[in-house]
Amino acid sequence: MTQTTARVAIVTGAARGIGAATAQRLARDGFAVAVIDLEESAAKATVRAIEDEGGRALAVGADVSDAAQVDAAVTRVAEELGPPTVLINNAGITRDNLIFKMAEQDWDMVMGVHLRGSFLMTRAVQKYMVEQRFGRIVNLSSTSALGNRGQANYSTAKAGLQGFTKTLAIELGKFGVTVNCIAPGFIVSDMTRATAERIGEDWDTYVAARAAQIPVARAGQPEDIANTVSFFVSEGAGFVSGQVIYVAGGPKA
Ligand SMILES: NC(=O)c1ccc[n+]([C@@H]2O[C@H](COP(=O)([O-])OP(=O)(O)OC[C@H]3O[C@@H](n4cnc5c(N)ncnc54)[C@H](O)[C@@H]3O)[C@@H](O)[C@H]2O)c1
Repeated sequence: MTQTTARVAIVTGAARGIGAATAQRLARDGFAVAVIDLEESAAKATVRAIEDEGGRALAVGADVSDAAQVDAAVTRVAEELGPPTVLINNAGITRDNLIFKMAEQDWDMVMGVHLRGSFLMTRAVQKYMVEQRFGRIVNLSSTSALGNRGQANYSTAKAGLQGFTKTLAIELGKFGVTVNCIAPGFIVSDMTRATAERIGEDWDTYVAARAAQIPVARAGQPEDIANTVSFFVSEGAGFVSGQVIYVAGGPKA
């Protein structure tokens, strides 16, 4: 398919894990990629990996839950790389606890990064997409959206992102913008390593136990999610919008 639009993508939380793999994949797909994370210095490792493969990338430090930082980051991306037409809302945190022990701060922080962060980023980027009459937004949900013990805050945020996705798809469709959601299952990353550590389980034992419950009999890798993002942002996926795809190695969480 002929490429007719600006090829600038923003990936949030892209210093490591799923975000880093996604940024690298989009660079291989021909996008100039803005690698946003809390610290610009941390984002530089992903930028270097992209540049080592001959791609173009920019490290930007921003907290996605802070409106002023988001607006400044998106303006910088537009000035230095060009108008962004792809946005991957990937930045995320966990603050797990059973409901009777969950602090208000843990609730607010998780909502702040996942929901407020995705809202602020989308609000800032959509104007470039509308101007270009082309855009692709992908929001990172989770199988936890279906319910997960100890994650009342996180599962609420991840379910909320599914509603956010569907409403954006309705509002932005007429401007050539599609909005979809990926809900990963168990993916090997620093986030899941931290969970194993918190519950006092040896990492290899933890991964093996999780893999044993997954129909394809392995843990997910960040690249499994990056591959799905690559499909959603392709020009050929222009009639796919408002969808949630569970990338979990099987049909259930
Ligand atoms: N790993 C999994 O099993 C899994 C499963 C389902 C969904 N997810 C989701 O996928 C996304 C990526 O997860 P991951 O496993 O790669 O996590 P990770 O912890 O390895 O990476 C998350 C990145 O987000 C960044 N980040 C956190 N808060 C931020 C903020 N306020 N502003 C900017 N950047 C911020 C972190 O610095 C980090 O680099 C998250 O949204 C997560 O909830 C992960």
